[in-house]
Amino acid sequence: MASIISVKGLEKTYKGGHRALKSVDLEIERGEIFALLGPNGAGKTTLIGIICGLVRKTAGTVMADGYDIEKDFRKARARIGLVPQELSADMFITVWHSVKFSRGLFGLSDNDAYLEKILRDLSLWDKKDAKIASLSGGMKRRVLIAKALSHEPSILFLDEPTAGVDVELRRDMWQMVRRLREQGVTIILTTHYIEEAEDMADRIGVINKGEIILIEDKHTLMRKLGQTEVTVGLKEPLSSVPADLSAQTGTLSTDGLTLTYVLEGENAEDQGTDLIKRLSASGLDFRTLNMSRSSLEDIFVNLVHTEHAGTGI
Ligand SMILES: Nc1ncnc2c1ncn2[C@@H]1O[C@H](COP(=O)(O)OP(=O)(O)OP(=O)(O)O)[C@@H](O)[C@H]1O
Ligand SMILES: [Mg+2]
Repeated sequence: MASIISVKGLEKTYKGGHRALKSVDLEIERGEIFALLGPNGAGKTTLIGIICGLVRKTAGTVMADGYDIEKDFRKARARIGLVPQELSADMFITVWHSVKFSRGLFGLSDNDAYLEKILRDLSLWDKKDAKIASLSGGMKRRVLIAKALSHEPSILFLDEPTAGVDVELRRDMWQMVRRLREQGVTIILTTHYIEEAEDMADRIGVINKGEIILIEDKHTLMRKLGQTEVTVGLKEPLSSVPADLSAQTGTLSTDGLTLTYVLEGENAEDQGTDLIKRLSASGLDFRTLNMSRSSLEDIFVNLVHTEHAGTGI
């Protein structure tokens, strides 16, 4: 299927000479939830800003839903909703007017029932006549989401939508994202809460210092780069690691009471279950047995860290 967003050879050098994006290629598939992860300053907001027409690219091409974002700016922009990283909303008008105005910007006819539904979904309906300036930070963020959805976009960008918001808003927001996805909306999000990406995303992209260093299906990524750790708590201390239990060498804690195996590779989990069977069969007297997989966060930190090492920084 054709991508809904196609980025080719994208370059951005800011005034002053900082090269924020380096030959970025990225294809976003229609209907997916794509998480773009990267440390501070990696270029996530710059990339999103270019696709949404807020930042001018230096070179390369970007197509959104079949439209070139520069040559066909209005058509491309009309397909896109953006929840920006920075809180920025018209402070002195009411929630209702702000959302209605956003929709009007795209030249769409009124659809108050649709706007009411968005506000209700975001628990903003009872605040519809409140001035935005009077709302709390979390409520302001809800307004930004409502505005981003006001013109029924087919692509939604969420740039750090959960930074500094409470648990309830996070939960509401992810529920809404799931509903939007069911309706066919493509979602691209950035977050520093990597467990959110682990929960939500179909695919993960990692950007570091302006370069995309990895794009992978989430499950494949976790299988390929994840580790499985088996920890055995023993009843009686051992003096050495038992032989022949695993192809991987285990390590024994100094008190001889904890045996740990770190298993890697695509079949790490199978190796783990295998090891547990052998441990049980070996007659080893153990108190606890624990198998855990690395989280997306472990993988991410490792990736970005290795990149730093690789570039000598
Ligand atoms: N308007 C600008 N002028 C000059 N440099 C900029 C501008 N905007 C961003 N930069 C620089 O470009 C780089 C990428 O910034 P960007 O905001 O895209 O990063 P990010 O990945 O979104 O980071 P964060 O996780 O902190 O939001 C940074 O080094 C930043 O300082
Ligand atoms: Mg950013």
